Amino acid sequence: MTKQSDLVLEVKNLKTVFFTNSGLFKAVDDLSFSVRRGETLAIVGESGCGKSVTALSLMRLVPDPPGRIIGGSVSLEGTDLLALDEAEMRAVRGNRISMIFQEPMTSLNPVMRIGDQIVEAVRLHRSIPAREAQTIAVEMLRLVRIPEPARRAREYPHQLSGGMRQRAMIAMALACRPALLLADEPTTALDVTIQAQILALILDLQKELGTGLVLITHDLGVVAQTAQRVIVMYAGRKVEEASVEALFASPMHPYTRGLMASIPAVPAAGIVAPERLNEIPGTVPSLVRLPKGCAFAPRCKLAIKRCEAEYPPLADWGGGHLAACWRAEEVAEVA
Ligand SMILES: Nc1ncnc2c1ncn2[C@@H]1O[C@H](COP(=O)(O)OP(=O)(O)OP(=O)(O)O)[C@@H](O)[C@H]1O
Ligand SMILES: [Mg+2]
Repeated sequence: MTKQSDLVLEVKNLKTVFFTNSGLFKAVDDLSFSVRRGETLAIVGESGCGKSVTALSLMRLVPDPPGRIIGGSVSLEGTDLLALDEAEMRAVRGNRISMIFQEPMTSLNPVMRIGDQIVEAVRLHRSIPAREAQTIAVEMLRLVRIPEPARRAREYPHQLSGGMRQRAMIAMALACRPALLLADEPTTALDVTIQAQILALILDLQKELGTGLVLITHDLGVVAQTAQRVIVMYAGRKVEEASVEALFASPMHPYTRGLMASIPAVPAAGIVAPERLNEIPGTVPSLVRLPKGCAFAPRCKLAIKRCEAEYPPLADWGGGHLAACWRAEEVAEVA
């Protein structure tokens, strides 16, 4: 049994929308999930399905206008972040909850030395002397395995390579030892050889610090190797959730099966390649005019009449394996 106190994050019925000229975009619709201490939860799905907006919602960084969180709750260590005012939220952001982005320059200040940025981040949340914060900054750079951390601390972001910048951003995000780290495609912009190193680093630090991790990625190979649990999103909604083992052994949503069929084999992770790479035909529907029934139905080979008429409820098919599909059991059988 999970103890209540093990829960770092509990998101319930989160709803985030964008008010645009072409209508109301439901970017995140009725999303619920939780993360335990030290756990890695992966969020996967095609471009535009609401992964980044989910992370930004948790950080309360959705640009308003045009965006707004219109419903739900986000409980971080028992505090509902959506109920905080902006000053209270600033005290939590970068402190109890941090985020690392695909492109480090979005969170690093180009005209400030790396070390000073970490010092500033630390002193924003802790009243300690500058000297002490400086020591923490160098320690953090050492922790993320930047060589010669004391010297590097005096450099500007542009003096570092892409991989080193990513390490510096991770150092900054973890400097206050947050309970939860959100990583939005943290390695996508990096060279393939560096990607694996950065991912390994994030996981090492997570273990060392006991941080809960929400890892947003396109890469199911990465998911198989890192996460304990997975959420699959489609058109702003969660369509499947399961342990990594259950998801790869018997995906219950046709969309998840499609995602798996479109990746190359990762033998170490037990993922067997299909005969050739195939893409899921069609595209994600407009979030303004979602179909009445299942949003995936127009692209689904298994769709029946009912799929177009009624949205399938997100049902628990056993052991916490959730799927929103009228034909989930049949999908699992053929997997
Ligand atoms: N600033 C914005 N204004 C209007 N709509 C937005 C804005 N930001 C996001 N959206 C809409 O919200 C939806 C979800 O976007 P989001 O960035 O979360 O997708 P994603 O799953 O992170 O995709 P990707 O894999 O490409 O990063 C998109 O359909 C997008 O059109
Ligand atoms: Mg994104």
